[in-house]
Amino acid sequence: MATIAFFGTLRSWEEGVIREHLSDHTLLFYPTPLSPSFIPEEAKEADIISVFVDAQVSADVIAAFPRLKGIVTRSTGYDHIDLEAAAERGIVVANVPSYGENTVAEHAFGLLLALSKRIVDGYDMLRQRGEYDPSRLTGFDLKGKTLGVVGTGRIGQHAIRIGNGFQMRVLGYDAYPRKELEAELGFRYVDSLEELLRQVNVLTLHVPYLPSTHHLINRDNIRLLPKGAVIINTSRGPVVETEALFAALVDGHLGGAGLDVVEEEGFIKDELNLLAHGSAEQHNLRVALMNHKLIDMPNVIVTPHSAFNTREALERILRTSLEDIDAILQGSPVNVVEPPQGRV
Ligand code: NAI
Repeated sequence: MATIAFFGTLRSWEEGVIREHLSDHTLLFYPTPLSPSFIPEEAKEADIISVFVDAQVSADVIAAFPRLKGIVTRSTGYDHIDLEAAAERGIVVANVPSYGENTVAEHAFGLLLALSKRIVDGYDMLRQRGEYDPSRLTGFDLKGKTLGVVGTGRIGQHAIRIGNGFQMRVLGYDAYPRKELEAELGFRYVDSLEELLRQVNVLTLHVPYLPSTHHLINRDNIRLLPKGAVIINTSRGPVVETEALFAALVDGHLGGAGLDVVEEEGFIKDELNLLAHGSAEQHNLRVALMNHKLIDMPNVIVTPHSAFNTREALERILRTSLEDIDAILQGSPVNVVEPPQGRV
């Protein structure tokens, strides 16, 4: 019998499925995300921990679990886990490699359409202010525009398909291009990010967060985008340098942004707690302030990291997470994530 600790909010139906599936084991549930400041005493005996993207599974946190065999993240991204620290102890890290290629790509286009058709503006105008004035809601067409997809993996490929559905011209950039996809999906790779930025009206980001993708869009390259271009980010907040994005929106170089993720998003969620107990460095505070300004801008739409959140995707996430846990318990792990070796 193993002890398995689940951190982060789970809906009651999810907890029910977990309790039934793992009825032979000791199960602990904590709605609070696992972090250096939240490691409950009784959970330290866990053999497996299951976390979400709001966790901070740092080396210190891992060290607090002496019996730990596996870390299962109920997400595709795993940048919230110190993979090296886990590997040093022989702890398996497993993720949910695919559950939401359509789900996240659909959200990216949800953000884009909300901007291009001024849907949130129209909704606010009518519902909040009782005004009915379509003349102030002129948007722009997607048809005929150029879509730039950065990261042509699972989600990026789905974004390409959707972009083609809107009759956009689609360009792709990937550090590891798969040329065969061009004919299969109907798009063209360009050789560099700079070349892509120069040509696109809409930029959508679908890369994982890695050292090489930290501030991939930054103050040195953001202005290569044509004036009026729109950035959609459903990948991870720090893939875009907030200060660069903010400045390009304020001076009107960019036409808008749709962001499901922002830098320091944990800070937005729990500002009071962090200010009171955390180490709120000046950089974090500056970024947090800019996030608030971004949220208030009329041509920016921010959603709270909810791109994954559909009933179908949650069911797929739960199914795969339980498979990950079963496989670790049986000693033959699946969906294992290794520390990057020599990758860009
Ligand atoms: P994937 O691994 O299938 O594709 C990622 C692609 O990015 C690969 O083709 C890879 O070669 C490329 N890439 C890696 N480094 C690069 C670089 N430096 N420059 C250009 N391309 C690079 O991943 P998938 O499933 O498409 O997910 C992408 C990301 O989306 C996840 O890592 C996660 O961070 C994010 N995500 C966000 C969600 C949300 O709710 N907002 C939900 C699920 C994923």
